[in-house]
Amino acid sequence: MSYQGLKGWMESETFDGLRASALSNVWFPFQQWNDVAGEGGLRIITEGHGAKIVDFQGKEYYDGFAGLVLVNVGYGREEIARAVYDQISTLHYANTFAFATIPVIKLAEKLASITPGDLNHVFLTSGGSDSVETSMKMARQYHVNRGEPKRSKFISRKGSYHGVSLGALSVNTAPWVKREIFEPMLPTVRIAPQPSPYRCELGGTTPSECAVRCAEAVEKIMLEEGPETIAAVIAEPVSVSTGVAVPGPEYWPMLRDICDRHGVLLIADEVINGFGRTGKMFGMEHFGVVPDMITVAKGITSGYQPVGACITRDHVAQAFVGGPEETFQHGYTYSGHPAGAAAALVNIDIIEREDLVGNSARMGEYLLDRLTPLREHPIVGDIRGLGLMCALDLVKDKGTKEPLSTIPDACSKLTNRLADNGLLTRVSQYLILTPVLTVSRQEVDEIVDIVSDGISYIEKELGY
Ligand SMILES: Cc1ncc(COP(=O)(O)O)c(C=O)c1O
Repeated sequence: MSYQGLKGWMESETFDGLRASALSNVWFPFQQWNDVAGEGGLRIITEGHGAKIVDFQGKEYYDGFAGLVLVNVGYGREEIARAVYDQISTLHYANTFAFATIPVIKLAEKLASITPGDLNHVFLTSGGSDSVETSMKMARQYHVNRGEPKRSKFISRKGSYHGVSLGALSVNTAPWVKREIFEPMLPTVRIAPQPSPYRCELGGTTPSECAVRCAEAVEKIMLEEGPETIAAVIAEPVSVSTGVAVPGPEYWPMLRDICDRHGVLLIADEVINGFGRTGKMFGMEHFGVVPDMITVAKGITSGYQPVGACITRDHVAQAFVGGPEETFQHGYTYSGHPAGAAAALVNIDIIEREDLVGNSARMGEYLLDRLTPLREHPIVGDIRGLGLMCALDLVKDKGTKEPLSTIPDACSKLTNRLADNGLLTRVSQYLILTPVLTVSRQEVDEIVDIVSDGISYIEKELGY
């Protein structure tokens, strides 16, 4: 069969034919085949423009989840497509271990200039899990190179998502990832409490109290294990997988101080937070802390190409300068794809030129303001966010904070209601709203109206 392209397929294919083919041959990540095969379980998306996507039947939706929280510059950016086309037509690939390409050099220079402090050294990958995996291996070899080979352990936080390769999975405890199936994980990971003010597991009653207790808990773990055995702490500046848990202002400076005192590296996972999502270019800028490494992906290209990176400070890179023994023993075929780099460069240019970081801050504030009246609903326990990263914490009971997701089908019914009214997003324990960073006030108004209807609808269905 010859390649028809989207236009040809739209004319020659039917929904039922594509669906049957998908069910026979496509394996959807994290999805149960029976659910995909169920009624309404498969949506085939064919187009995107700005904040919206369109399915095969022509129905238009707001993408309230921006793909998988990555389409920062919005859908349909032809200038990125053109840059990728130009690069691929001239040189689509060069051996990334042996050679440099100009877009990769330019991208690394650009990233060094926009990341905080002396985060200057860019190891490119093809996604978030690869970037986290790279940071973990880099942390271990950093200590080996400096004569501290016993530093092999990692500390991450409860409920944080960091990816799915076995190393990244070892520090990933997002509730929907049933990682026990893949055990044994790396045996050298300890999980610290999440500084989530609404659900502080250490009983903190204010964001600050929760932050201080959770940071102290990290140091307690280090002392229990022996600080001389810890390689790194890894954490997202603001965790989305725990429903946009914005830590109190004390948390990150305390983590920085604890890591410095014990010779432990601090890794900030900016895979979601980075490139404007939080209303700053990088999430860590909210907290005035420069980590030793950051991991990025997603918003670096807004999904126009699969690219990620682990970016390190000068002192980390310096530990790898020497002879063969010091050389970082790690690399991917796509550690520096020229077309990916081209896409990233244009994407970052758009973010800067259109002040999408500012728009994320302004529209994020407006979105939170507009959502605030929903707090009156019995199933809305908390509403929180930073930039265009917002979550409604849905509860069965405001007193006990038991998640609404414990009521069978409640979340899927709400998801369907939102979709019927033209909003696609993730609803689990949290209703997540992370639209594209170009979103306008009017679009925010329309999104909030759909959410408001959905909350009222599900409450009525459940008899509140
Ligand atoms: C904070 C964080 N780190 C890492 C990852 C893994 O990224 P990827 O799915 O590109 O491997 C994700 C994915 O959602 C993430 O949210």
